Amino acid sequence: MKMLEVTGGNTLSGCIRISGAKNSAVALIPAAILSDEEVTICNVPDITDTTALCEILDYLGVSVKRASETMIINAQNIENKEIPEKMAKKLRASYYFMGALLGKYKKVTMALPGGCSIGSRPINLHLKGFEALGAKITMENNVYTVEANELKGANIYLDFASVGATINIMLAAVKAKGTTIIENAAKEPEIVNVATLLNNMGAKIRGAGTSTIEIKGTDHLGTCFHEVIPDRIEAGTYVIMGAACGQCLKIDNIIPEHLESLTSKLEEMGAFLDIGADYIIVSKGEHYKGIHVKTQTYPGFPTDLQQPLTSLLTLCKGTSKIEETIYENRFMHIPYLNQMGADIKIKNQTATIIGPSKLVGTDVVATDLRAGASLVIAALMAEGKTKISSIEHLLRGYENIVEKLKSVGAKVEIKEI
Ligand code: EPU
Repeated sequence: MKMLEVTGGNTLSGCIRISGAKNSAVALIPAAILSDEEVTICNVPDITDTTALCEILDYLGVSVKRASETMIINAQNIENKEIPEKMAKKLRASYYFMGALLGKYKKVTMALPGGCSIGSRPINLHLKGFEALGAKITMENNVYTVEANELKGANIYLDFASVGATINIMLAAVKAKGTTIIENAAKEPEIVNVATLLNNMGAKIRGAGTSTIEIKGTDHLGTCFHEVIPDRIEAGTYVIMGAACGQCLKIDNIIPEHLESLTSKLEEMGAFLDIGADYIIVSKGEHYKGIHVKTQTYPGFPTDLQQPLTSLLTLCKGTSKIEETIYENRFMHIPYLNQMGADIKIKNQTATIIGPSKLVGTDVVATDLRAGASLVIAALMAEGKTKISSIEHLLRGYENIVEKLKSVGAKVEIKEI
């Protein structure tokens, strides 16, 4: 087991280069098997979630060559066999093999996906979409079989604009007969990135990034070269760190437009931001005032930055509020922040933060990926040492986090316990 030891109080300055987006890469890798030829994806982050997907590709007999941040995937010798629980459970995004294998073979058998325990996280909308395309679904011992004689384009309305369901339905529909329309589709940049890969392979998808996506089925998908977009959540995490303890900290290789909901909130509370074409330079503000934030689907404030932001809000004078509307159990970082000296109360789905508080280092647990990020920010702000255990969650989503933090002046060390 690994633990992260952070000595707080240092000012962070210099430059952090943002990696490829986890939540794009984890969909692009399964999507690549829909091609009958070689697919090259660059800017793939080296995190445990992408490694776990490569293990599934390897198990299915797909050739994967990985050099630095480039991945070459060739599914010519793929075998469509059951994906066992031990592989599917390693991450949430294993569920994209459902859409991809169903789209390619009209049949998929796999165990339930894993991922952070931040709510019930059903996949009913994914399954509803597959059924609308003509598939039958059975489940035995937590293993789903989804199969169809023929997949036929359909009009699918999503009751919630789910990222996972939108992508999975696109994957299943690209080779279906006729036209599929997804209404109330998710609009996150990761959806656009996946649609672009599929279109580069020869798919006919229009409207990705809006709430109506049209997919005209096609028989053959071929070779292509594709790039993963910069990770807006990794970028947002470091921007928040800069607002907490930075002095001209440059967050580079980003698409600032993807971070507008965060940057406008940080400016509202009093942070200093210089927003360029592909970077943000951030310094800690002198006086922070409390703000109200509500998590929403894109382009609203992302739930994935809610936990990192909570740590920063302990610096604000007065009352801040965060309302979490996406997941019912995404406040597990808060008891640890309170243990470090914060004054945060949770009622229903709203956290009320009274500040400013002085944080002091202690022993805490990263209960999930973004809770881990929140605790790293708190630890950097705190006086003394913080020991964060269960950091395997953190390593699932942040490439080279220790090296990146050290390069800008943080005192952080991974230790085996
Ligand atoms: N939902 C349903 N039914 C479904 C699917 C979703 O009710 O069939 C509900 C969920 O219960 C939840 C909400 O819809 O309340 C959001 O679910 P969504 O499908 O959008 O999320 P996801 O695909 O499971 C992805 C990211 C999450 C990110 C969300 C929202 C991946 C692998 N995961 O999850 O990322 O929070 O979209 O933006 O792309 C993270 O990176 O830390 C993370 C959790």
